[in-house]
Amino acid sequence: MSEKIRELISEAEIDARIREIGQQISRDYAGKEVHLICVLKGGVYFMCELSKRITIPVSLDFMSVSSYGDDTKSSGVVRIVKDLDQPLEGKHVLIVEDIIDSGRTLGYLMEILAKRNPASLKLCTLLDKPDCRVIKNLKTDYCCFEIPDEFVVGYGLDYAQKYRNLPYIGVVELEK
Ligand code: IMP
Ligand code: MG
Repeated sequence: MSEKIRELISEAEIDARIREIGQQISRDYAGKEVHLICVLKGGVYFMCELSKRITIPVSLDFMSVSSYGDDTKSSGVVRIVKDLDQPLEGKHVLIVEDIIDSGRTLGYLMEILAKRNPASLKLCTLLDKPDCRVIKNLKTDYCCFEIPDEFVVGYGLDYAQKYRNLPYIGVVELEK
């Protein structure tokens, strides 16, 4: 089976929205330093672009959790593959994610990170699929785009490790 990619959100739309969210974060955290946590690998493209649009001091750290295989369905299994390098104590932590689907990954992550005593803990996502949410109490503080229940790739998101480098967001359409 092969697949086709249909553009859903253009590169220009993504750039413009990341600028807006970057400005909003800079205003909301004015006078503070924000500690961005990237959830690898999908969040990496968004984190780089977003951090360039934030005008207050920024520090970065990376974490890898796995909840998906090479499939398009959530396995519900979440495990830490790579933990953070730095402690979160007293920091204004902003988790930067590519997409929130069921919310299982983030629900689990927020719980673990909250126990490390950050000064604040918020969530920023490039994409949100609200119709797919299983963890209902998960609050997305910053969201660039809400999208329908479709499997998307590009801007860091993959399908079986492919398409992460597409500069736009596209829907995967499987064809026989
Ligand atoms: P959740 O735990 O169901 O919220 O899933 C979160 C993770 O699943 C994301 O960080 C992605 O890695 C992956 N994921 C969910 N939906 C998609 C999609 O449409 N395309 C690519 N990856 C996805
Ligand atoms: Mg992710």
